[in-house]
Amino acid sequence: MRILLTGTSGQVGAALLPLLEQQGRVFAPGREAFDLSRPDTLAGALDAYSPDLIVNPAAYTAVDRAEDERELAFRVNAEAPAVMAQWAARQGVPMIHLSTDYVFDGSGTAPWREDSEPNPLSVYGASKLAGDRAIIAAAPAHLIVRTSWVYAATGANFLNTIIRLAGEREELRIVADQIGVPTSARVIADTIAGVLSAAQGEPARMIERRGGILNVACGGETSWHGFASAIVERMRARGAALKCRRIVPISTAEYPTRARRPANSRLSLARLGEVFRLEATPWTEALARECEQLAAKA
Ligand SMILES: NC(=O)c1ccc[n+]([C@@H]2O[C@H](COP(=O)([O-])OP(=O)(O)OC[C@H]3O[C@@H](n4cnc5c(N)ncnc54)[C@H](OP(=O)(O)O)[C@@H]3O)[C@@H](O)[C@H]2O)c1
Repeated sequence: MRILLTGTSGQVGAALLPLLEQQGRVFAPGREAFDLSRPDTLAGALDAYSPDLIVNPAAYTAVDRAEDERELAFRVNAEAPAVMAQWAARQGVPMIHLSTDYVFDGSGTAPWREDSEPNPLSVYGASKLAGDRAIIAAAPAHLIVRTSWVYAATGANFLNTIIRLAGEREELRIVADQIGVPTSARVIADTIAGVLSAAQGEPARMIERRGGILNVACGGETSWHGFASAIVERMRARGAALKCRRIVPISTAEYPTRARRPANSRLSLARLGEVFRLEATPWTEALARECEQLAAKA
């Protein structure tokens, strides 16, 4: 199986690379060779790689900056996936794509299901939703993996930001009224690889039968404040010297950002269990694994 994997310098792409390498020959062009901000170049590149499967975790992910770079965010997150999906539909090749909880407006407290009505609050969310819809419209065999609050032991993310700030400051003030579930890139990659290996070399057939949108996240829920508190506790238990003594819960209103974010980012994981018989890893367990990896490196 020839697999085209984008975004391997990012969190999810990096976690996917070694797992997909066990399932086929992986082509992982960086943005120099496969630039999502130039959608018109992608069909030619796809002809050259001639993949049997496209996996697209690459995206414009700068949520606040997207408010000022709308055109670029839409090109990368909507037009590029549209071109890939049209190519995939023409060639009969399945496509796995990554999407986000930020397609929802965060109203209520119920977990968002795959068929819940999206209503993005931000340009980033709108651009990702446009990508999802373009893939569905082009209609290759597709699996759109919706996930939330992604982090990994490496890279610029909430986990590493909190560890750095907790080393520098006695007090952290963290938003406590946005609820969701932190999900390690490793859990997302393990889930996608698990779904693919269950396809026994026939991803197109499996994705055609059981594809569509699929929520993939860790189990449980917390706030950013709860996540930060758990990070500090875990890292301290593993011997990290942290200055932080207090983590103060604050409201979203006290921490204004350029882009609005959903207050309720809970994703229903019912379909993951029902269709793929996969059980979600508790977020605390996934965090412990990443912290162990960080502590081992320190
Ligand atoms: N991060 C989250 O909290 C979160 C939450 C829900 C869903 N998601 C979704 O999950 C997916 C993976 O997210 P992530 O956290 O792994 O992202 P990430 O760490 O920010 O990585 C993004 C990747 O996309 C690549 N990329 C950006 N612009 C590109 C372009 N013009 N051409 C080619 N590649 C480009 C980046 O390459 P460079 O290194 O060259 O920039 C990088 O490899 C995305 O689809 C995202 O929307 C993320």
